[in-house]
Amino acid sequence: MRGIITIILAAGKGTRMKSSKPKVLHEVCGKPIISYVLDIASAVSSLKTYVVVGHKADVVKDFLGKGVCIVEQKRLLGTADAVRSAEKLLKGYNGDILLLCGDTPLLNKSIIKKLVRGHQRKGAVCSILTSYIDNPSGYGRIIRNTIGNVIAIREEKDASCEEKKIKEINVGVYCVNSKRLFEALADVKINKKKREFYLTDVIEIFISQGLDVQTIETSDPVEGMGINTREDLAEAERIMRLRILRGFMLAGVTIVDPSTTYIGADVKIGQDTVIRPFTFIENNVRIGKNCVIGPFCRLRPGTRIGNDVSIGNFTEVSRTKISPKTKMMHFSYLGDSVVGTGVNIGAGTITANYDGKNKNVTHIGDGAFIGCDSVLIAPVKIGRNAITGAGSVVTRGRDVSANNVVVGVPAKVVGKRKD
Ligand code: UD1
Ligand code: CA
Repeated sequence: MRGIITIILAAGKGTRMKSSKPKVLHEVCGKPIISYVLDIASAVSSLKTYVVVGHKADVVKDFLGKGVCIVEQKRLLGTADAVRSAEKLLKGYNGDILLLCGDTPLLNKSIIKKLVRGHQRKGAVCSILTSYIDNPSGYGRIIRNTIGNVIAIREEKDASCEEKKIKEINVGVYCVNSKRLFEALADVKINKKKREFYLTDVIEIFISQGLDVQTIETSDPVEGMGINTREDLAEAERIMRLRILRGFMLAGVTIVDPSTTYIGADVKIGQDTVIRPFTFIENNVRIGKNCVIGPFCRLRPGTRIGNDVSIGNFTEVSRTKISPKTKMMHFSYLGDSVVGTGVNIGAGTITANYDGKNKNVTHIGDGAFIGCDSVLIAPVKIGRNAITGAGSVVTRGRDVSANNVVVGVPAKVVGKRKD
C-alpha cells in the first residue's frame, strides 16, 4: 500500500442527535465514535491524519489531543466545504487521500485496506465504498448508467422516487487523488435545497471530466452505518457489542448469554473464563484465565483480576486489583482496593472508599477472610490471613495485623487465627 493521508470529517452539528455533546464523542461500547474512525486511519498507516472540526470544536479538539492535525471549518457549509478547509494544509501534496466520516464506527479495517489497495492498483482517480442496505433512507444513493458504471451520488433530498428505491448507498468513505479532488471541489455548487456544498457532487464532476471512478462494496451491510440519531447509536451499540463478544468467544472465553452481556471494546479476558448473564464489564478492565464472573456483576474501569477468581452475583468492583484464587460471591462492593491471593470476601462486604473528598485505598492481604457484612473504611489494611467477623466495621486507619481476628463496631481484636 502506498502512503496515504487521511481526512476525517467531524465538524457537523449532529442535529438529529438532539444533544449538547458533539456527535462524534458519543460512545459506542464505552468508546467515542470518532476513536473507531481514528483506528481505521492507523490501520492504513495514514502518513498524517487531519480531523475537520467545527461544531463545539474546542471540546472535540480537547478529546483528540496532539496525535492528529486539526482543521477548523469556520462555517458548517457541508461536506464539500469541510474537505476544502484542509486544502491549504495539503498544498503540494499530490498523493491519495482517504476521506472518512467521523460518524461511522462500524467500519471494518479490512474493507478500508481493500478499498485503498484496489484504488492504487487500478490507478483510479476516485474509489467509493458502497453498501447494499434494506432501508437506504437518509443515505446518498449510488447512481449507475445502463452498463453499471457509477455516474453520480444522489442525496435523499434530491432523489427522484425511482432513485429512492436504489438500495446501494454511499458509505461516506472515499479514496481519491488529492489534486483532482481539490480541483473538483472548486467547481461544486451550493445545493439549493439544503444550502450546503455536497462532497458527493465531485463524483459527477469527475465523470464529466472522463476520469475513472471505481466502487467497492462492503461485505457486511451494517459496516457502512452512519450514526445520525440516538436510535442509530443504540443499533450500533448492539452490533458492536455482539462483535466484541464474538471476538472473546473465538479467543476461548465462554459468554453464557451474549444478549445480556456487555463488555467494553478494550477489555482483556483470559482463556476459559466464563462470563455469566447480566454482566457489565466496562473499558480498561483485565481479567485472567479460568475465572467465573457473574451473573449480575459490574466491573468498572481500572479493575485487574488474576487467574482463577470467582466473582458472583450483585457485585461491583472498581479500580481494584484482585489476585488469583480469590472469591467474592455475593452482594459486595470493592473500590480502590488491592486484594491478595486466596482471599474470601464474604457476602455483603463493602469498602467505604470515598470519604466525600478523596478516594482511599483498602489493602487486603493474602489468605484473609472477610466475614459477611464487613465494612472496611478506607484507608485501611487487613493483614495476611486476618479474619473480620460478620458485621464488623473496620474503621479508617485501624489496620488489622496479620492473623488477627477482629469483630464488632468498631472492630476490635478478639484473638489470633489458628491454622
Ligand atoms: C453523508 C453523505 C451521504 C452518505 C452519508 C453516509 C454528503 C453530502 N452526504 O450524508 O451521501 O450516504 O454521509 O453516512 O456528503 N460534516 C462536516 N462539516 C459539515 C457537514 C458535515 O464536517 O459542514 C461531517 C459530519 O460531522 C459527519 C460527516 O461530515 O461526520 C457527514 O455529515 P452528515 O451530516 O452526517 O452527512 P449525511 O447526511 O449522513
Ligand atoms: Ca451521517
